Amino acid sequence: MRTATEYHDLTSYRRDRMSGHYMDLGNQPDVFKRYPGIEPIPLPGDAELPTPRLSSLLRKGDRPGSPTHLGIDDLSRIFILAYSLTARAGHGSGDFFFRNAASAGALYPTEMYASACGIEGLEDGLYHFSIADQGLSPLRKGTAKPARSPALTFYLTAIFFRSAWKYRDRSYRYHLLDTGHVIENLTLALKAMNLPFSLAYDFDDKTVNAFLGLDEVREATLAVCRMPGGIVADDPGLPGSFGNLPDNCTAASRVSARETAYPPILDIHDAGARILPAKGTPADMAAELGIDPENRDPIDARRRWPETMTCPEALSQRRSSRNFIPQPISGDAAAAFMHGLCIEDSTPSEPVAGLRHCLGTGLLVGGVDGMAPGLYLLDPASLSSGLAVAGLFMDRMADICLNQGWLKNAGVHVLFMANLALIDRYWGARGYRYAMLNAGRLGQRLYLQATAMGLGCCGIGALYDEEAADLLGLNPTSRLLYLVGIGGVKGKI
Ligand SMILES: Cc1cc2nc3c(=O)[nH]c(=O)nc-3n(C[C@H](O)[C@H](O)[C@H](O)COP(=O)(O)O)c2cc1C
Repeated sequence: MRTATEYHDLTSYRRDRMSGHYMDLGNQPDVFKRYPGIEPIPLPGDAELPTPRLSSLLRKGDRPGSPTHLGIDDLSRIFILAYSLTARAGHGSGDFFFRNAASAGALYPTEMYASACGIEGLEDGLYHFSIADQGLSPLRKGTAKPARSPALTFYLTAIFFRSAWKYRDRSYRYHLLDTGHVIENLTLALKAMNLPFSLAYDFDDKTVNAFLGLDEVREATLAVCRMPGGIVADDPGLPGSFGNLPDNCTAASRVSARETAYPPILDIHDAGARILPAKGTPADMAAELGIDPENRDPIDARRRWPETMTCPEALSQRRSSRNFIPQPISGDAAAAFMHGLCIEDSTPSEPVAGLRHCLGTGLLVGGVDGMAPGLYLLDPASLSSGLAVAGLFMDRMADICLNQGWLKNAGVHVLFMANLALIDRYWGARGYRYAMLNAGRLGQRLYLQATAMGLGCCGIGALYDEEAADLLGLNPTSRLLYLVGIGGVKGKI
């Protein structure tokens, strides 16, 4: 089980093979990572946030230079925007907190770490971000390399058992998608703070995991986002090797008393440790799915997005909505979603896997003013969309999404698809990470756009995989990876 195709197939839901799953409620994983004996340093809670709109952040093309000064309050702003607790719900056993990034089943596998260098008010070193405390747990002191200007490197990991507790073998999908949601928040935070960065999905897994002190069978690094001058643990320029962190740090990757290891998760992650040499530039994924629209219409990039709030406001108000009403969404909103999905980072992504190379994006339109119902495919390279099949498919897709009937009232289902055979051929199993992380990024982007435009949104990972591919007319090696429903909701329109 060493390829994206095999893992995805093995973890596909099939209507006739769904087994009732017992969830051990007494063994529910801790959603907060804790380091016994390490007290988190509180980050300033009163840092004023920047106020740009999402449209201006995403469209921003220029790359700012390195800052001359960064303080602990700036770092606090970054974490508030990237990953913070938002709504609270009272549970029998105490309060439960939702976060500004969506997560399958609200299980929150993603953790964040930062190595800081030259930040005023913070000693140079490596820190774990404690979301519960809005604080930093110091893990390593000092920096391996003197920096010319202040620099930060962020590491995003997933703790496997958090999601596997509920979703078992299938949960590697959610480790990646959920972490993609947080990555999008982080990149938006850095853009909002006018800081340069590059995002990498390729790095030496073992070295970076050891640098962070992870217990590799329980937690793994999935992405590294770094400002110029920020260190990467596997940077060949780093002098010598760093020592191992103490056992109590490694032990912190355990999140419940009785953890089950799921071999398919470890296998596919391990298979992805190999970074294949680049095989040239792959074709755009949209052309490899078997969907072929006859005509394409341009997406107007200058059209105003009907946003009513800033990006930080959307981040703090973002929630999943399921109470869609059967009322069309505006053509302006749909155009904004399509445009947003086509925007690539202006900062370089280190993997060759740009968004459009490893992911094809489409829309099932149910109710949008001025758009005929049907299956549309986006072509980010030419910023256009094309109707591939006319018809109303919302009821059928809601049924395929494990009978989540409320989805049929959504105005659109945004579809993230990939030809898995092509992914395996170009990037090997690591390509699965690229596609799923990027699908998560775009999913979070949609959530924020929807929130900013007064619409409801919900990510959907639960679907009968083969039935979805059949409905969309995908070729035999392509699959729907993730779906996001968007629509008007009660009380908002
Ligand atoms: C990858 C992913 C898959 C999800 N799948 C579903 C789903 O199938 N059905 C559903 O109702 N919600 C789904 N959700 C939404 C989560 O349940 C929701 O994000 C979580 O409960 C936290 O609530 P919040 O988004 O309101 O903060 C999914 C979210 C993500 C990120």
